[in-house]
Amino acid sequence: MDVTNGAVLFAIALVFIAAVIATVSAAARVMVDPACGDGPPPPPAVTGIGSMILLLHTLRTKGFGAMIHEQYAKLGSVFTISFFGLKTTFLIGPEVSAHFYQGLESEISHGKILEFTVPMLGKEVGYGVDIATRTEQNRFYVDALKPSKLRCHVGPMLQEVENYFLKWGQQGTADLKQELEQLLMLISARCLLGKEVREKMFDEVFSTFHELTDNSLRLTSLLFPYAPSPTTRRRDKARARLSKLFAEVVRSRKSSSHFRQDDVLQNLIDSKYKDGRPTTDAEVTGLVIAILFAGKHTSSSTSTWTGARLLSHKQCLEAAIEEQQQILKKYGEHIDYNTLLEMCFLHSCIKEALRMHPPAPTFLRKVHRNFTVRTREGHEYEIPRGHTVASPLVINNNIPYVYRDPDVYDPDRFGPGREEDRAGGGKFCYTAFSGGRHACPGEAYAYMQVKVIWSHLLRNFELELVSSFPETDWLKVSPEPKGKVMVSYRRRTLRPCATT
Ligand code: HEM
Repeated sequence: MDVTNGAVLFAIALVFIAAVIATVSAAARVMVDPACGDGPPPPPAVTGIGSMILLLHTLRTKGFGAMIHEQYAKLGSVFTISFFGLKTTFLIGPEVSAHFYQGLESEISHGKILEFTVPMLGKEVGYGVDIATRTEQNRFYVDALKPSKLRCHVGPMLQEVENYFLKWGQQGTADLKQELEQLLMLISARCLLGKEVREKMFDEVFSTFHELTDNSLRLTSLLFPYAPSPTTRRRDKARARLSKLFAEVVRSRKSSSHFRQDDVLQNLIDSKYKDGRPTTDAEVTGLVIAILFAGKHTSSSTSTWTGARLLSHKQCLEAAIEEQQQILKKYGEHIDYNTLLEMCFLHSCIKEALRMHPPAPTFLRKVHRNFTVRTREGHEYEIPRGHTVASPLVINNNIPYVYRDPDVYDPDRFGPGREEDRAGGGKFCYTAFSGGRHACPGEAYAYMQVKVIWSHLLRNFELELVSSFPETDWLKVSPEPKGKVMVSYRRRTLRPCATT
């Protein structure tokens, strides 16, 4: 759910920056905080209104990534931006990121950053409950989405994908972004929420879900989640409606024992805490909303970016098609969990699209206990308690000593012999799905659904990108392709590869 952090930071930064610019003025300066005690010094810091004006200027003219990149080039891989007493320390590169991802919750955590999710998800789950309960609930997600449970979703996913594209004619044009958003909602309804929702309640559940997330993510709700405003009232009304809808489904499932299903909702209903207590209806509702929220937008923007990148790189497109031909030759048209695992090049295409277009561009944590980092160059810094720390993927995913020619779309960088995400500096080189304690439990499911969609498209359509390559819409809560992504399509039946 950290997918929102980048935008929250961005929005908060804008509000603070605007306020300060209106009231203060001083000379620009970059200074180093004095060392405290005998330990390593604190990181170099950017402070003062002048520096802030320069930062804001870069933010406005070149974007968030360029703003952080400038400071990285000037100050190195660890630096603090100090603003009105609010200190955010940026940690850039795998060498300084381990504690960020692996530190104990008592030492480094989301703090209050995700508090705005409580009215949206409910006080029975996530940041509405204590850390022990939250950890157990996270185990429910991990269990419901583990590989042995994912196998049964391939059939229903395929069915949704095949049915969806039946409505496309022999040839035509379509907005890929809109089509994939719609398709992924149908897949979520079927595989996460189950047959009843997919067949009888789809429109109502998803229009209410949109009403809920839309109003939860507006600036007023993010900054003042409990203020009585029209936005929070609409949010609460949608939340109440969604609770009622899910409660009906859960109750009807509990009362008919023969109606046992394999979807994620059923897994959450069957989940038990360590003391044997089963999940309540309210907890199941909160957990299911959280999973929809975490998976929906991230997956649809990734599917669209994967398409836009593939269709703009002829060689990659040809290699992805050839892989499908090889698989057709080996297994025929049948697709199951194992066939999907063999789509290694397609997997790398998705992974590379995520490296270049992460739906969560920055992760944030709050430091509760000082910790020390050591940079690649051997400098040590102590990050003090009270700082907010940021791991900016927009920079981390583009470090040239980790990723060769980072601006180039090159899926083979993850293939055998290169494996740049591991060779370049250990396990925190690639964090599109976060890592350590808060790693996304839906990663395997996400790859699975994007592969089901793209293997179907590659096998059944010749596609061409007819609009220009999309820019990133940074003003969205989770950055996504800006505007329409128009493709032309012509039906075809891909034949198995002729070569041995
Ligand atoms: C390409 C698609 C996806 C990406 C890039 C992605 C990425 C992430 C990230 C970055 C986090 C936050 C980790 C943190 O707090 O540091 C996260 C959390 C989460 N994701 Fe995903 N995700 C994707 C798809 C999915 C899907 C499809 C599901 C479920 C079916 C899912 C379920 C979750 C859940 C439940 C959490 C919260 C875990 C917690 O509370 O610690 N995600 N995801």
